[in-house]
Amino acid sequence: MSRPEAPLLDSRPAVGDEIKKDFPLLMAHPELAYLDNAATSQKPEAVLKALDTYYREANSNVHRALYSLAEKSTVAFEDARRTVERFLNASSPREIIFTRGTTEGLNLLAWSLSELLLGEGDIILVSALEHHANFVPWQQAALRKGAELVLIPALEDGTLDMGFLNELDSDGRAAKVKIAALAHISNAFGTVHPVRILAKWSRERDIPLVLDAAQSAPHLPLDAQATGADFLVFSGHKVFGPMGSGVLWGREEWLEKMPPWQTGGEMISSVKPEKSTWNELPYKFEAGTPDVAAAVGLAAALDWMSSHGVERLEARERDLETYAMRKLTEVEGLILYGPRDPYRRRAVYSFNLAGIHSHDVAQYLDKVQVAIRSGHHCAQPAMRLMGIPSTARASLAPYNTPEDIDRLADAVRGVQEYFR
Ligand SMILES: Cc1ncc(COP(=O)(O)O)c(C=O)c1O
Repeated sequence: MSRPEAPLLDSRPAVGDEIKKDFPLLMAHPELAYLDNAATSQKPEAVLKALDTYYREANSNVHRALYSLAEKSTVAFEDARRTVERFLNASSPREIIFTRGTTEGLNLLAWSLSELLLGEGDIILVSALEHHANFVPWQQAALRKGAELVLIPALEDGTLDMGFLNELDSDGRAAKVKIAALAHISNAFGTVHPVRILAKWSRERDIPLVLDAAQSAPHLPLDAQATGADFLVFSGHKVFGPMGSGVLWGREEWLEKMPPWQTGGEMISSVKPEKSTWNELPYKFEAGTPDVAAAVGLAAALDWMSSHGVERLEARERDLETYAMRKLTEVEGLILYGPRDPYRRRAVYSFNLAGIHSHDVAQYLDKVQVAIRSGHHCAQPAMRLMGIPSTARASLAPYNTPEDIDRLADAVRGVQEYFR
């Protein structure tokens, strides 16, 4: 495979196929080409070990007791927060809120920001290519508040028409936009959205920008502050961590002003019959007993990524992506969605085969042990725009190999042969 153009700062040898050895499930199933990484990733041994060790050696409830075991659990939880803080280059652990995943983070933000900022006639700006998790919570918030959900339109190649921002400025609607939310990378088409453009536009108008990093956190180094966004959310299970783990990063000045989403234990400072006051950040947004093991497992996953070097993992993926793009575009009759420019797309290959339903494609591929996903990928508005009900979707992680991609391409030809 060819090396990327930009030299890596990390001088270690390139990450090779041996990285697969870190993943027990993949080693136990050498026959499997796992290409459903946009849905969830496999877990390295380090994560399984961290979960096991936590429950064997530290399990007890956090923050609330004075005995040593609870202290150990609290330290593990808060250390995990520090790991996330470093990973994202956040400016304080107060900005890191543990969630159950991207969906929960976005629901928290949609509720809390709309309570703080939204009135009748205001606008929430999202894109036409969002996952339902970054669409429906905003739609519901708009309905609750008598506001309007406005979509940045998409173009035929699965990119966004950012010229629409000028339209909002010239027709006066920009003044009504109170919240903006955008995916970093589209789970439906793999498009890398121009976050910086929206961030600059939003910043100039003092509009908070929420970045859905569910599909970017596994694939590129994330510097939360440098994105220009005010909030960023991602899921642990897509970055090699446990299911039910996730992170919400927010700028402290915003989090301080926002009302809590859920109420109950842990997020409280004082409770009186007539009034309650809230705990300091980040606990104000962490009501109830958290999934401590999930947070510890997520931190182990981020440590695993850092130990290989996020840039080196990305470089390996870029090589795989170049190869995948070539192999898939060589398949006659394969309709590939999303931009062709490798700098505008990452890791996700959504396609259809003329005359064959995407479910049939995925089922056939399963028979030859190639695991991909088919359907609307929780992005019905995006599918509708493309005029299609569904796609077959293969998606990469650094543990994939060129052989996995060969098998995908061969299996796709096999489907065409079978349905001919
Ligand atoms: C772009 C994007 N946003 C949000 C989500 C929701 O993530 P989760 O189901 O982990 O909460 C996904 C999941 O696929 C996604 O790809």
